[in-house]
Amino acid sequence: MSQAAPEPVTSNATPMTAAELTDEVVARFSDAADPRLRQIMQSLVRHLHAFAVDVQLTQAEWLAGIRFLTATGQKCDDKRQEFILLSDTLGLSMLVDLMEHEVNGGTTESTVLGPFYVPGSPERPYGASIAERPSGEPAWVAGRVLDADGRPIAGAEVDVWQNGDDMLYAVQDPDAPQTNLRGLFLTDDDGRYALVGVRPTDYPIPDDGPVGGMLEASGRHPWRAAHLHFIVRAPGFRPVTTHVFDDGSRYLESDTVFGVKPSLVRHFRRHEPGADDPPQGVGPDQVWYSLSFDFVLQRQA
Ligand code: BEZ
Ligand code: FE
Repeated sequence: MSQAAPEPVTSNATPMTAAELTDEVVARFSDAADPRLRQIMQSLVRHLHAFAVDVQLTQAEWLAGIRFLTATGQKCDDKRQEFILLSDTLGLSMLVDLMEHEVNGGTTESTVLGPFYVPGSPERPYGASIAERPSGEPAWVAGRVLDADGRPIAGAEVDVWQNGDDMLYAVQDPDAPQTNLRGLFLTDDDGRYALVGVRPTDYPIPDDGPVGGMLEASGRHPWRAAHLHFIVRAPGFRPVTTHVFDDGSRYLESDTVFGVKPSLVRHFRRHEPGADDPPQGVGPDQVWYSLSFDFVLQRQA
């Protein structure tokens, strides 16, 4: 036996104006059991509706928007996260990062993780090279991991990854050794770490998908300022996910994901061939660079 359809409900609360419709939609979330979900959904509805009213969004435009979001989802797979790129290029990733990591008593500032981090990098000894094949001009990168009072943190993990002179991370290049330009270093008793990387290069974020199309249509470039990535962890401290930027990059002011913070910009000092004592593995006829960067971690509350 088929069930009778419910009687249509008629009510004086039938939405008439945009403001009344918004209030009605907000009210439908008022019974959400989780108060945080209720707050997020109600605020989302209010801001989404306000946006549509602000720009007087047409049906054709909203359909184009839905097609864009659909294509963004369809571009995602286990190696590509187009929604993160969208969040990054809209500055939302950095906004959330900024709210969660207030600048705190000189501790190292954080920035975006990005899509090219692969957990499980090989542990490498103090001063080792992370370049498993020729990948650019060598760079000696060294410093200390400290607490907010300047005391060294021994045994801290310095997890590093970067691109090379072909602009690619290992994970983007099936022909590269998958641990190229990645490594995990442990600090010594003085909190010191050191590694040989390469001078990083400016590079475009993957721009062959809907996010690249959005940037192009908006007159925006897809370039990131050259950087090395780090995650630094130590028991009892908040881990920091950050970059060290090359002060020679032309994109420091216009990094497409808004990731540059002045406290993270450093100079790569140039060493002419044979002029200084080069690090292990650097030939006497090679230009190389050096960079010093200390990480300061905040104690876990
Ligand atoms: C990166 O630095 O690896 C990155 C960050 C955000 C978007 C794309 C790439
Ligand atoms: Fe990067």
